[in-house]
Amino acid sequence: MLGVVILAAGQGTRMRSDLPKVLHPLGGRPMVFYTIEAARRLTSLPPVLVVGHGADEVRRAVGEAVTYVEQQEQLGTGHAVLQCRPALEGRVDEVLILYADMPLLTEATLRWVVDARREGGAVLSILTVVAEDPRGFGRVVRRSDGSVARIVEEADTTAEERAIRELNAGVYACDASWLWEHLPALPMSPKGEYYLTDLVGMATGEGRTVVAVAADDPTEVLGINTRVHLAEAEAVLRRRINRQWMEAGVTMVDPETVYIEPTVVIGTDTVIWPNTILRGQTVIGRHCRIGPNALIEDSTIGDRCRVVASVMERAVMEEGSDVGPFSHLRPGAHLGPGAHVGNFGEVKNSYLGAGAKMGHFSYVGDAEVGAGANIGAGTVTCNFDGKQKHRTLIGEEAFIGSGTMLVAPVRVGRGAVIGAGSVVTRDIPDETLAYGVPARERGKIVGSG
Ligand code: UD1
Ligand code: CA
Repeated sequence: MLGVVILAAGQGTRMRSDLPKVLHPLGGRPMVFYTIEAARRLTSLPPVLVVGHGADEVRRAVGEAVTYVEQQEQLGTGHAVLQCRPALEGRVDEVLILYADMPLLTEATLRWVVDARREGGAVLSILTVVAEDPRGFGRVVRRSDGSVARIVEEADTTAEERAIRELNAGVYACDASWLWEHLPALPMSPKGEYYLTDLVGMATGEGRTVVAVAADDPTEVLGINTRVHLAEAEAVLRRRINRQWMEAGVTMVDPETVYIEPTVVIGTDTVIWPNTILRGQTVIGRHCRIGPNALIEDSTIGDRCRVVASVMERAVMEEGSDVGPFSHLRPGAHLGPGAHVGNFGEVKNSYLGAGAKMGHFSYVGDAEVGAGANIGAGTVTCNFDGKQKHRTLIGEEAFIGSGTMLVAPVRVGRGAVIGAGSVVTRDIPDETLAYGVPARERGKIVGSG
């Protein structure tokens, strides 16, 4: 059985943040989630997460998906793994050790490290990367015969070692009993910490082989120590996600300016224009046009919809509906099939029926608008009386003249016509013309059929 240990107890001093490093969001989710997800795909045993600095906050964010081990004092990565011994000893015969600040590692690479140790019959395998910028990583020191000798942390390097460009990525697969036997013997480093990396020298010192596999994609092993690294990782993740959607049939006019969280789903032949941000549980259908300048969060959009320069939050657009430019669909906004919200509109907690139109400068909140109704420019549902919110009902095919104030609670009947500039304070029956301040019934609509 394979056990996975994820180290997340460090303070992350270099982030200069009140938030524990591993909770800093990447692609909209705490970075530690990525490692946890990768671990869960590798083994059925829940990963062991070592927490320490900000432990309560980390526990709250991560929840029940992992087994927690607390490292009271952050005495180094080797010390952190040692704390997992009671949780794992006897239950697993191999242990994969990961750092929570390396969220871009893929499952395939992790499997590769695990397999390399098994196949090489080694007590330890490690992942390395050859890169021009060492980013403070430990250096992999090899012997003259090319075999791995040890890892030396950057702070402890000689000038010669410092020039080595083969770096320790920070992924280790270990034989479990060898690990538990050797961890307590780790020496204290000059910095006063117990370095996990010293296991490599211990193994080779005993004449054991340590297998090193080199990552072929250096972006996978971006460790995040600073906010500069965080932005670099964000860019890598963005390119990965965008590439995946383009390969799946989504057009991006300029993928460098499209920000899609990993949780979003997009249908084929949808075109995404620049400066578009798609977040959370957003689902977008096929043949849509999204952007430029769209921010869409936790929303559902059907096929053949259009969203231009607008903001959507927890809103729904059904097939063929469109919004924008410069409009705001707030939580609970729901556009029926073919409904239209043009410029400078705001819709909140309201349903616009099939083909309903709201072209210009309107606010519709806590309302139900019937199919085919037309909301004239500058119409406002006055839904708040200072204490409570009230509903507005607008019947099918109703015509609301420009500049109408609908003082809720109020109902405008099916096929009713409200003259421009009216203030509607009472219900207006079906097929009725009303106007004025306050609006009064002026007769039946003839031939509205
Ligand atoms: C570590 C490696 C380095 C490697 C680099 C790759 C060691 C000694 N060095 O350096 O060789 O090139 O990662 O990213 O391992 N942590 C704990 N408890 C502790 C200390 C750290 O849980 O007492 C956790 C941190 O929260 C972090 C991870 O271990 O998630 C790595 O620690 P960090 O301080 O970032 O190590 P690096 O200096 O990056
Ligand atoms: Ca690190």
